[in-house]
Amino acid sequence: MTDATANAIPKVDHTKTPHPSGVQPLSLKDAPALIESLLPVQKLSIDIYKERMAGSGQTLTALGSYWKGRKPLVLNRACVLASLLPATSDPIKDLEVFELLMGMDDISMSKRLGLAKPEDIVRTAKIADIHAYFVVDPPGHALPSKAPFDIKDHLYIKNGKSTTPKLKWRSDVSETKKHEIAALTFEHDTYHDLATDAMRAEELGEDLAWHAWEKVNQHLGTKASSFPELIEQLGVMRFGHRPTVADTFSGSGQIPFAAAQLGCDVFASDLNPVACMLTWGAFNIVGANEERRKMIDAEQKDLVAKVKAEIDALGVEQDGTGWRGKVYLYCLEVTCPSSGWRVPVLPALVVSKDKSVYAKLVPVPSQKRYDIELVCNATAAEMKAAELGTYRNGDVVHVVNGVEHVNSIASIRGDYTTEVGGKKVKRNRLRLWDSSDVAFRDDDIFNERLYAIQWIKELNEDESGRAPTEFRSVTKADLEREKFVNEYVQSHLAEWQENGWAPETRIEPGDETERLYRERGWTNWHHLFNPRQLLVLAFIRQHTRSFQANKFARVLNFQSKLCRWDHTRTNAQGVFDNQALNTLYNYACRSSSLCLSGFNSGDKHFPISGGQVVNTAAKDIQYQSDIFITDPPYGDAVKYEEILEYFIAWLRKNPPAEFSQWTWDSRRELAVKGEDHDFRLSMVAAYKRMAECMPDNGLQILMFTHQDGDIWADMANIVWASGLRVTAAWYLVTETDSALRDGSYVKGTILLVLRKRLGSKRTNQTDLAYELEDEVAEQIKRLTGMNDTIALDSSRAKDGNLFEDADLQMAGYAAALKVLTKHTIIDGKDMAEEALRPRVAGQKTLVESLIDFATDTANKMLVPLGLDQSVWRDLEPAERFYLKMLEQESHGLNKLDNYQNFAKAFAVRNFSALMASENANKAALKSAIELGRSEMNQSSELFQTPTRAVLYALMDLQAGKDLDVVLKGTEQNLKVGAFYSSRDMLVVIARFIGKKVDAMRPEEASAARVLADGIENQRM
Ligand SMILES: C[S@@+](CC[C@H](N)C(=O)[O-])C[C@H]1O[C@@H](n2cnc3c(N)ncnc32)[C@H](O)[C@@H]1O
Repeated sequence: MTDATANAIPKVDHTKTPHPSGVQPLSLKDAPALIESLLPVQKLSIDIYKERMAGSGQTLTALGSYWKGRKPLVLNRACVLASLLPATSDPIKDLEVFELLMGMDDISMSKRLGLAKPEDIVRTAKIADIHAYFVVDPPGHALPSKAPFDIKDHLYIKNGKSTTPKLKWRSDVSETKKHEIAALTFEHDTYHDLATDAMRAEELGEDLAWHAWEKVNQHLGTKASSFPELIEQLGVMRFGHRPTVADTFSGSGQIPFAAAQLGCDVFASDLNPVACMLTWGAFNIVGANEERRKMIDAEQKDLVAKVKAEIDALGVEQDGTGWRGKVYLYCLEVTCPSSGWRVPVLPALVVSKDKSVYAKLVPVPSQKRYDIELVCNATAAEMKAAELGTYRNGDVVHVVNGVEHVNSIASIRGDYTTEVGGKKVKRNRLRLWDSSDVAFRDDDIFNERLYAIQWIKELNEDESGRAPTEFRSVTKADLEREKFVNEYVQSHLAEWQENGWAPETRIEPGDETERLYRERGWTNWHHLFNPRQLLVLAFIRQHTRSFQANKFARVLNFQSKLCRWDHTRTNAQGVFDNQALNTLYNYACRSSSLCLSGFNSGDKHFPISGGQVVNTAAKDIQYQSDIFITDPPYGDAVKYEEILEYFIAWLRKNPPAEFSQWTWDSRRELAVKGEDHDFRLSMVAAYKRMAECMPDNGLQILMFTHQDGDIWADMANIVWASGLRVTAAWYLVTETDSALRDGSYVKGTILLVLRKRLGSKRTNQTDLAYELEDEVAEQIKRLTGMNDTIALDSSRAKDGNLFEDADLQMAGYAAALKVLTKHTIIDGKDMAEEALRPRVAGQKTLVESLIDFATDTANKMLVPLGLDQSVWRDLEPAERFYLKMLEQESHGLNKLDNYQNFAKAFAVRNFSALMASENANKAALKSAIELGRSEMNQSSELFQTPTRAVLYALMDLQAGKDLDVVLKGTEQNLKVGAFYSSRDMLVVIARFIGKKVDAMRPEEASAARVLADGIENQRM
């Protein structure tokens, strides 16, 4: 266990010693938590998005941007607060207090935006008497007392010139009042607009909440004037002591750090030592106090100076004329089987697009090989031509004497398939590297060559500004330096490995690591680094102590043969830009100075009081915690246990002192992974242990990525078998636009709130069904009730709905899990045991059927306003989808994930067919005209439906067709003979569409009214 934080505060049992604040220990012992009753998911999603978009501006990313699955701090902070705050009998007040603490209220928003200038305030805010807040300069100059007005309309003459008067705050106006007045300008903004321009609440630290404490204390009966005080008092009221929050799958440490920032005692554990190192860095580097920061900075400077001196002493990066190597570019080289020539394998000949540099292949026929000359200041036409390299779609292509030779990499590599134990396995004829190899051998199928160097001028101390850079062809002197580096590394490798300064372990084959063998013949981790890279890294590693280890890992991410050269941006990319270990045909090697620049302090600084890091499997934790907040690796595309071995290989031997007790191994066999039965078993082992380590009134939040319907049954089973029960579920949109663009499916995060299942409740299927129906209705009623209350509050107009339909839909799942998991025995079956029974493919389990039933019940309750329940019931899924989304669009809701969620909920197979745009934030349905004549045949989910017939009619009417003709057509577009019985429905649908598109497409709306009237008149 590592606890390096100097300022940890001792824990006191306040059931025995009164708390100085006077709060009553255990007075909230059995109170439901706020998160079990409400969470402002819409606003929270906006703040989550904001944090994501901050990129490298996020608090902890500088410690390791290679870690991609970070759960946003704002989400984690919300989870901690909402787990400790009670849900009282006044939910609106609860919400208000929660928003105050999250920086979501108007005054906080004004602080986040920075106090507006008085002249900007009076331009838009409605103020009855501006003199109550401002003084006018020059005194006595007449301004309207009522705002809004534009101060520029009230100029005065000074020294013969027209001058704008000034407004200043009156000295007796409090800071809180100033922000309150500034917030009057928000009247026409949405929360989204405001948050977009604002700082993140977290960035304001304690400044965020000084206006909040009075209201917070009044509502909660606390006496807090800071977050740590509030957290401690709430902890005492719930658990009798300052609360402990733990995360057993801590990863990069985002959850435990957020808890520590608030003032909780924190345990963070993870199976993987790299995750532990990142979490440790969060606590001890980002969270360090001033004094320790100074020590860290000094240690870093020392490391940089030492490595620079050592590299310079070897003279392998300087050209002797005042220039230093910045980036070295290498590519594979193969012998072309048909021509016998040695050919550099380059996907593009472009070296730098913005600097107009490309690599020209100059044939040397006598040696059947190419020289590579760099052409600088190339013409646009040359650069265009250089986009075509020698590697094209799996083939190596070059021309000799006018003859084009095309050979696939697969054939050059000698790919073949063989049978091993009755299974077909892919093999090839690449030589597997020996552990002592540091480079390809001359007779290897693949070889490697240096083909370009970017140089940077060394500036004298008296020179300032940006140092010039240039690309140059590789010279004889460069090759000699290369040779020296190779020999130096070869002769020192064993010693470095012995000391733990270079990797010595074999690459364990796995889904991710296998390709390193298959595609290059690399068998040991050090094979992923060329001699130049090994040299720089071994020197840095030698001087790396605990506080530099995270920086060292960051450098590793940018210094291997897996670093892509981005010729468009003229820079080297990180290995983990795509969370996989991909081999490359050409790559970039950074010089020592570029690598060392990563040691310049770029870390953010948010001092915290402590946090303990434990390197253990979740099922083996030995600590107790009041609250667990976890984000396990469910169905994760990222194979942490494999890819992190890249870093482990460099740190496992003689690890830095603070991490020496950790197991420097990924322990793949203990990792929670996959989605099958074994996954469920390992999850249950973990969650069962957490339940054991939590008091009876403890609470857990389990986060997971929203994927498909099956996940709910999985989760129900895991919760059941772990002795827990679900008390609430929430859905948050957590991905950024760019992440959305990468995958076709939007990923949100579900929060499951869990409690221990105490006692043993029995039920049967019939009773369950009733109970489920009641619970779904109750949940939806409660959430929509809160929506209605909020809607009545004009000051909240900008917030939009507290819950959208997608959240209400979630209520279906939440209710299902809530009702199911509170029972131990259903129909005489012990559900904890049932839950662990392996699934039979293709068979629906009882749990799955019950969840389907609950969600169906919820969906039925989500009838769009203006449609009758009876009509809704008779609609086909695709019709429900179209009409429901039309309603959402009419409210300006155009998030793609909403469409996706509803498509899933309504069981629509191909909703894309109905979409005009699938842009993440600007998704839209096709209008009647855009649908045109599509979706009219049997393969369409709208085939012969009333909704399709109406939309077709609306297109025809807008095209000016005669109403009678259109009605005749409508009849034909429905099932034979269905027109007369469907007339009421057609009218309802047409009127509904008319209303919903009135603002968006007035012509379509007018056509809808004509159609509805037409059908009605025809009937009369
Ligand atoms: C989804 S990540 C957590 C990400 C984290 N919430 C963040 O914001 O960075 C899951 C973590 O679980 C860890 N893990 C996998 N199996 C584990 C086990 N059996 N016990 C503990 N940790 C495990 C992985 O190493 C990984 O760090």
